[in-house]
Amino acid sequence: MEILIFDTYEQMSKAAAKAVADLLNRKPNAVLGLATGSTPLGLYKELVRMHKYEGLDFSQVTTFNLDEYVGLKKDHPQSYHYFMHENLFKHINIPLQNIYIPSGTTNNYAAFCEWYERRIKECGGIDLQLLGVGSDGHIAFNEPSSSLGSRTRIKTLAHSTIQDNARFFEKIEDVPIYAITMGVGTILEARKILFLANGAKKADAVAKAIEGPVTSMITASALQLHPFVTAYLDREAASKLTMIDYYQWIQAKSIEAPKP
Ligand code: GLP
Repeated sequence: MEILIFDTYEQMSKAAAKAVADLLNRKPNAVLGLATGSTPLGLYKELVRMHKYEGLDFSQVTTFNLDEYVGLKKDHPQSYHYFMHENLFKHINIPLQNIYIPSGTTNNYAAFCEWYERRIKECGGIDLQLLGVGSDGHIAFNEPSSSLGSRTRIKTLAHSTIQDNARFFEKIEDVPIYAITMGVGTILEARKILFLANGAKKADAVAKAIEGPVTSMITASALQLHPFVTAYLDREAASKLTMIDYYQWIQAKSIEAPKP
């Protein structure tokens, strides 16, 4: 895994946004896998800025979001549909029909999940997947004990996730208990993955994901099996990595390193 450590969240977000923009400049019809949560907000803000002031074009881009709460309508302020439209889609020129987000209100989840997986394949697969991490080490909503080969399906949220996400709802009882989420296996099929984390609250999960054993108890650790993952971390999130000096040494030397 390539590990990049930044002094600030802003620097981390800008570097990750640049990686997305570089892909879109190389491949204007790229398929992006998108994440929600507070972590990618800075990245989305930067993409919006690049669209407005630097002409970054999304007119041929297709997106697939990782997950959605079961039971929340698209216009619910805490739904991931709402989040994505507010924080990214309404500010850029992506055609609405190119946007895919799991449905939290379908009346046939099994059929929807199969269709979602099929659509990803029909669109050529995900070129670049953005990921945050939960404090329990989950990616998307693949909670501890999720199969590392799992596909898009319904998951029951862990208590720690419900507690973490309660800050966005009026009261904890309002946090949905179920989510529809891409599986770990689905995520690992993306051609490239950007794994983002910031803040001290993520330091344990980041250390376990990057340096711990590969285990379904920390689904982010499955990223170790993927050949093209870049981790974008701020100093606090990186603070519990035992090999931090080595990663920083590689980062500092990368300019003069032989190119693969
Ligand atoms: C939720 C989402 C994850 C996200 C995580 C962390 O559980 N399903 O995709 O990575 O929250 O969120 P935040 O970035 O707000 O810490």
